[in-house]
Amino acid sequence: KAKIPVIAIDGPTASGKGTVAQKVAQQLGFHYLDSGALYRLTALSVLRRGIALDDEHALAKAAEHLHCHFDGAHIFLANEDVTQAIRAEEVGNTASRIAALITVRQALYALQLSFRKSPGLVADGRDMGTVIFPNARLKVFLTASVEARATRRYKQLIDKGFSANIEDLSRDLKERDERDMSRSSAPLKPAEGAYHLDTSDMTADEAVQQVLSWYAALGH
Ligand code: CDP
Ligand code: CDP
Repeated sequence: KAKIPVIAIDGPTASGKGTVAQKVAQQLGFHYLDSGALYRLTALSVLRRGIALDDEHALAKAAEHLHCHFDGAHIFLANEDVTQAIRAEEVGNTASRIAALITVRQALYALQLSFRKSPGLVADGRDMGTVIFPNARLKVFLTASVEARATRRYKQLIDKGFSANIEDLSRDLKERDERDMSRSSAPLKPAEGAYHLDTSDMTADEAVQQVLSWYAALGH
């Protein structure tokens, strides 16, 4: 199992991880893990059930008993298609809060490992290269300026029919970065040996090409 290659793509919110990871997976015919979706699914489940954000025991239980499945680009919680619902900013912000709890992270650990299947996996998140797949064949740390990321997230939300404004998004984004980088358990930081890619002035396709060429250069 250790031989099944993993490409780990980590970075802050709206750096383009999801877009780039999905396209790289498509190009290579690899499986894809959107680890952030697992934290978002847990958050949605918690919000809907009215679980208090300081009830650590109940939060961990919700993560442990997450009934979700992935079908192509669609994400289901129990049998409901929540592909759109989990993208709401409130869900992202709640995800970031509960993701600081080690018990929640532990509850989602085995589920994440189970995505590593032949012929390979591209996984994106915050701790793919540092904690979940420390022996990944390629580790990439994607970044982009706050301005570029807020603009990207704004466009995405508007396209999905949510309302949004750039000032609130920039503020939320900085808050989320801060929380993700400063938490004691699996903080957002580049993995050792990670290739850094600042995509502020790049298209998603250019970023994809860079990742693919790094991967090809490793030989296998
Ligand atoms: O799309 P965006 O980058 O905003 O967030 P996401 O990747 O969907 O993840 C939502 C939240 O889950 C993040 O703010 C992180 O706090 C948390 N997360 C994490 O802690 N570890 C991961 N591997 C993935 C996400
Ligand atoms: O997963 P993460 O939160 O890091 O970002 P995402 O959900 O992939 O969103 C990034 C958005 O910015 C998408 O709408 C992309 O089309 C766009 N984008 C990108 O991903 N990479 C670039 N270099 C430029 C734009």
